[in-house]
Amino acid sequence: MDIFDVFSARHSIRAFTDQPVTEEAMRKIFETLNRAPSAGNLQAFDIYQVTKAEHKEALMRASYDQGFLVQAPVVLVFCATSARSAVRYNERGETLYCIQDATIACTYAMLAATALGLGCVWVGAFDEEAVHQVIGAEPGQRPVAMLPIGYPNETPRIRPRRALEEIVHQVG
Ligand SMILES: Cc1cc2nc3c(=O)[nH]c(=O)nc-3n(C[C@H](O)[C@H](O)[C@H](O)COP(=O)(O)O)c2cc1C
Repeated sequence: MDIFDVFSARHSIRAFTDQPVTEEAMRKIFETLNRAPSAGNLQAFDIYQVTKAEHKEALMRASYDQGFLVQAPVVLVFCATSARSAVRYNERGETLYCIQDATIACTYAMLAATALGLGCVWVGAFDEEAVHQVIGAEPGQRPVAMLPIGYPNETPRIRPRRALEEIVHQVG
């Protein structure tokens, strides 16, 4: 797929088949997200891969019962690791860059998954403390996004977008 076809093909998928995601596909997703830009190339994020049913169930409970988290064969949890960025960028690194680093990586992962014929959805609604505990994250690693990944078992609803004229502002 051409990259613009990938952008067009990506829609949130919230139903997954039982088909497992191969290690090779996951490797491709990890290699792709590892190409993402980050502030000072510090890559101030860590990722936890969740595949066990008991852990996925706990993630579902931590995200207000979003059931598709259990259905997906793999859930990635993206954590912002503030200390990595704060070393060079102080408060801006600690409060902003690390979150941007983690979420750009998550975006790359979404697009890589789409290019591989997989489906996923960004999950942002969850209890951070509960997710932190489920994945056994280290202190200072803040869960900022979860990405359930699997083969789509639904035709996605195509969501409308704001008009470009409303979004893009010409200066001067
Ligand atoms: C920051 C963020 C948080 C989101 N949180 C959730 C979520 O908790 N649960 C969910 O089902 N979708 C969530 N989404 C997915 C959005 O609902 C979805 O991207 C949006 O409706 C546009 O649809 P599309 O992804 O199919 O283009 C989130 C997306 C973003 C970017």
